[in-house]
Amino acid sequence: MLNVFVLLSRSRAYPTGVSAVRASDLCPRIPGLSPAQARMCEARPDVVAAVGEGARLGVAECRRQFRNHRWNCSHIGSARVFGHVLVVGSREAAYVYGITSAGVTFVMTQSCSRGNVSDCGCERSQPQGGAGWKWGGCSVDVRQGIRLSRKFVDAREVERDARSLMNLHNNQAGRKAVKHNLKTECKCHGVSGSCTMKTCWKTLPSFGQIGDYLMRAYRKSRRVAPHWVGRRPTHLRPVKGRRKVRPRDLVYLEDSPNYCEPDPERGSLGTAGRECNRTSPDVGGCEVLCCGRGYNTHQYVRTWQCNCKFHWCCYVNCDACKERTENYVCK
Ligand SMILES: *[C@@H]1O[C@H](CO)[C@@H](O)[C@H](O)[C@H]1NC(C)=O
Ligand SMILES: *[C@@H]1O[C@H](CO)[C@@H](O)[C@H](O)[C@H]1NC(C)=O
Ligand SMILES: *[C@@H]1O[C@H](CO)[C@@H](O)[C@H](O)[C@H]1NC(C)=O
Repeated sequence: MLNVFVLLSRSRAYPTGVSAVRASDLCPRIPGLSPAQARMCEARPDVVAAVGEGARLGVAECRRQFRNHRWNCSHIGSARVFGHVLVVGSREAAYVYGITSAGVTFVMTQSCSRGNVSDCGCERSQPQGGAGWKWGGCSVDVRQGIRLSRKFVDAREVERDARSLMNLHNNQAGRKAVKHNLKTECKCHGVSGSCTMKTCWKTLPSFGQIGDYLMRAYRKSRRVAPHWVGRRPTHLRPVKGRRKVRPRDLVYLEDSPNYCEPDPERGSLGTAGRECNRTSPDVGGCEVLCCGRGYNTHQYVRTWQCNCKFHWCCYVNCDACKERTENYVCK
C-alpha cells in the first residue's frame, strides 16, 4: 500500500543524472516494488529515476509546509519507521500521497521538457494563439508527465480496498494540482521591444506554489467512506455535505490522532521536546504545539560573525557578536 516511498528509503543510493541510469544499477536497490513497478523499472529506468527524484521533492515540501505543526512530516520517507507511518487513513496521509504524486508529476514533466526521459518532450500540438501572440518555444507537456507518473505511482495500489481507493484519489489530486498551477510565460518581439508580437509557452510554477495549493486542499479535505457493492468498495463518497467529491479534493477515511502524545501505532511521535513560539497563537505557538502541557525556557548566548571587513589581499576580519536570547521547548 505504501506507494512510491519505497524509493525514498535508499535515497542516496542511485545516481541523479538520468542519462547515467541503468536498470541493472537502479532496480535491485529499490526494495518493495510491486511486480508491475519492477517490470517498469527494468523497462524504463529513466522514468523510475525521475519518480525517485520527484518523491523526494514531494517529501521535502511536506516537511517545509508542516514544520511548525504537531505532525511535521519528519519521519515520512525514512526507512526505519516506514511501515508504521501512514497506517491511519488520515488527512495527513492524504497530503503525503498528494504532494508525493505531485512531486513525481512535476519532475517527470520537467525531465520530459529537458529531454531527460525518452519518448516524451515538449508539447507538440499547440493551439492557435491569439491576436498579437502565438505559442512557441517549449511548452511543458504535463499530459505526458501525468501519464508516465500515474503509470508508476498508481501501480502500487493493488489491494482494491477502501484505503487504496483513498490513495488513488489523492494521487490523482496531486497530479491535478500540477496541471492546475501551470503558468504561461511570454516574450516580446518587435522593433526595439515594442511587443507587436509575443511568443508564449506553458511552464511549471515553483514547486512551493504547488505545496501551498495542496495545503489549502488539506485544510478543506473531505472525509469519505467507501460505498460497498458485495464485498468490494466501488468508490468513495462524502460523509458530510451534499457536494460531490471533486478530483482535485484531498480525501481521508479516518480522524487524525491529535499527535500530542507518542503513539507509534497511529503514526504520532508526540510533541515533547519541540521548539515552539511563545508569542504565536497559531500552529507553532507554544499553546497549540505543546498541547497545554507547558514549555521550558532555555536561555543561551547566541554568537555569530559580524562586521566583516575584506582586506586586500586576501583575508577577512570579523568581530564576534553576542546576544542573550532564549528559546522555548515543549514539556
Ligand atoms: C538531464 O540531461 C542532461 C544532459 O542532457 C544532464 O546534464 C542533466 O544532469 C540531466 N538532468 C537530470 C535531472 O538528470
Ligand atoms: C518533528 O517532530 C519530531 C517529533 O516531535 C521531532 O523529533 C523533530 O525534531 C521535528 N522536526 C523538526 C524539523 O522540527
Ligand atoms: C513567533 O510568532 C510571531 C507571531 O506570529 C512572529 O511575529 C514571530 O516572528 C515568531 N517568532 C519566531 C522566532 O518564529
